[in-house]
Amino acid sequence: MDISTSRFPIRKSWAYLNNSGIAPMYAPGWEAGAAFERARAEKGQMAFADFGPVPGGVREAAARLLQTSAENLSFMKNTAEGLSLIAAGYPFEPGDEIISYVHEYPSNHYPYVLQKDRGVSLKLIPDRKMSEHQREGMPGGFHLQDVEELIGDRTRMIALSHVQFTSGFACDVRELGELCADRNIDLVIDGAQSMGCLPLYPEKWNVSAIAASGWKWMMGPVGTGLLYTSPSFRKKIRQTMAGADLMQQGQDYLNHSWQPYEDGRRFEYSTVPVSLAIALQTCLEEVHLSEGIEKIKEHNWKLQDLFLEKLHHKEVHAVRFEDKHRSGILSLICPDPTRLCNELKENGIIVTQRGGYCRIAPHVYNTAEDIDRAAKVINGLNFGSP
Ligand SMILES: Cc1ncc(COP(=O)(O)O)c(C=O)c1O
Repeated sequence: MDISTSRFPIRKSWAYLNNSGIAPMYAPGWEAGAAFERARAEKGQMAFADFGPVPGGVREAAARLLQTSAENLSFMKNTAEGLSLIAAGYPFEPGDEIISYVHEYPSNHYPYVLQKDRGVSLKLIPDRKMSEHQREGMPGGFHLQDVEELIGDRTRMIALSHVQFTSGFACDVRELGELCADRNIDLVIDGAQSMGCLPLYPEKWNVSAIAASGWKWMMGPVGTGLLYTSPSFRKKIRQTMAGADLMQQGQDYLNHSWQPYEDGRRFEYSTVPVSLAIALQTCLEEVHLSEGIEKIKEHNWKLQDLFLEKLHHKEVHAVRFEDKHRSGILSLICPDPTRLCNELKENGIIVTQRGGYCRIAPHVYNTAEDIDRAAKVINGLNFGSP
């Protein structure tokens, strides 16, 4: 992998292992986005002619990453926007049920809570301890059987994160997809912690929809996201947001006939942040599609393995999962996560804590040296325990 600091300037100053939080922007990405605004300053509307289809280009790139076609993609501002459009537009009837997990990230929880007004109930999969060191209140994960037990006659949707933002537990999307296909349930995935770092193939795995944020593993601008919807699922979703760009008549703005696009453009509804779409497209094309998602996963896991090899602190324990539940996040349990994060930061290494864990989350531009530095600082920490 070409990890030159011109592409990843973060490398100049930090060993940055926080790609599950806010990843550093891929520099050629923002340069491509900035070039659009520069051209617009000079040429106004004529600038558009210098750039390919926008946001068609980012839809195309994301579709290649997910092994689907661009018509199933919509460019969004964030994960919550995609999930809110789905939850609000889904044809729920009073008494219907959604199944989710008890410790989901808010963007994958509140859109479903809002459906209570429509008489829809949200059933939450209880947490299961996944590591012997996991303390009370720290999220772990769940088993397929825990999901199965909650399914009833009125279950319409299962809404889960591919990867939990706390423990790093990845659900087995393929198995869940099979379960949902058998029971005629829609599987909706929050891919914020996996898209750009783990394979995610909605068509092969019977996933109805995926929403993700652009600024984590995709290394794009803050305020970007993507939404995948399968054609049959999309048909079911009622339009809840509307604007100028939703309609097939395009710039024939005084033609108010109701002719929305049938593809993913319907969910973009109006003017999009063009420069940010160009930036995210550049990241996906030059990093993820050019390297390949399997290779990225292997690279990240190798760095995690190296960290595990080097970690020798008797009070710091990594949460380990079998491969099908493993993700880009390696979560650590220690007596004082704030202390651990601060000590790393003082030594030029960035990680974040969530749900009581410290998350080690290396990505394409990280090296063995970054991992070595992090492990050394942690091994030298004294938590002052008796
Ligand atoms: C699982 C998960 N979903 C979504 C998000 C971000 O959501 P949004 O794009 O709505 O800000 C995060 C951010 O940490 C996350 O971990």
